Amino acid sequence: MTTASAPGKVILFGEHAVVSGVPALGSAIDLRATVSVVDLPGRVEIDASNLRLMVTGFTVDPLAECIHTVGSSRDALLATRYISAVLKELRAGDLRVTVESRIPPAAGLGSSAAIVVATLAALNEHLGLKMSRIEIGSEAYRIEKLVQQGLGSPMDTALSTFGGYQLVSDKIQARKLPELRLVVGYTERAHDTRTEVAKVQSLRQSYPEVVAPIFQAIGAISKRALELLEEGRLEELGALMNVNHGLLEALGVGTRELSELVYAARGAGGAMGAKLTGAGGGGCMIALPKEGGEAEIATAIRQARGRTFAVKTGCEGVRLEG
Ligand code: MEV
Repeated sequence: MTTASAPGKVILFGEHAVVSGVPALGSAIDLRATVSVVDLPGRVEIDASNLRLMVTGFTVDPLAECIHTVGSSRDALLATRYISAVLKELRAGDLRVTVESRIPPAAGLGSSAAIVVATLAALNEHLGLKMSRIEIGSEAYRIEKLVQQGLGSPMDTALSTFGGYQLVSDKIQARKLPELRLVVGYTERAHDTRTEVAKVQSLRQSYPEVVAPIFQAIGAISKRALELLEEGRLEELGALMNVNHGLLEALGVGTRELSELVYAARGAGGAMGAKLTGAGGGGCMIALPKEGGEAEIATAIRQARGRTFAVKTGCEGVRLEG
């Protein structure tokens, strides 16, 4: 058996503005997807039964390009779609692929990128393909985009592959920055990145003179945040998270649920800063706790009906396990 795992991610600053080339800062987090591969002569099976909302199993027929499912859940189906795309691209067969993930899907935490990267790394090792880490990253980006019909963020696959922090503009640069502890609040509402990106781009087309300065301000926040993070000036970093959240609200990607979690974290939770993360329209927010303040924020978010995850940033990228 060959096993690989890859991390999910959060966007700390710069979402949406990055689509117009403004820098965004993302980080790998310590929620991981794990993929194992064993030989299974004559068949291809994908077992996603360990994902949330249990299912039994899947049989994929790569030749017929169809997936037979036995008792399905949305989460398992999503994972199966990405894994079967990787199998097809690598023309891999005679295998059982088992996936487990602690990253909630369709929440903006890079779950699909982590599953694609971990599957590629496990198959790379199992089949002796000798792909480099750089090749795994670019192949993962290509496959994620293929499944998502042209939509895919290079940030997600770069963070899942290389880990750490990545600054994305027209290029992707790894940045060495200290670890942060964050509390993620999940609204449990799936979002659709394509819809949110289209909404912001349409606003930009209607009111370029209004939206351009908002993007510019978001870019200035990303740049300033890099210095503050480097210098450990977390109170100021929190203040900029709050400003970035306000700007994302101005772009129309906030929701009542997201703002309730943000205000709960800043209010009863005592967070130094809180903002939505990713595309918005649902999905997740992140909060920056004071020293030892994670539990208080988690309680405040849960009281506001969010699901919480305590995460660390700057985590390791894809790796072989066991
Ligand atoms: C979505 O996770 C982040 C966006 O900036 C879109 C993108 O960068 O592709 C909203």
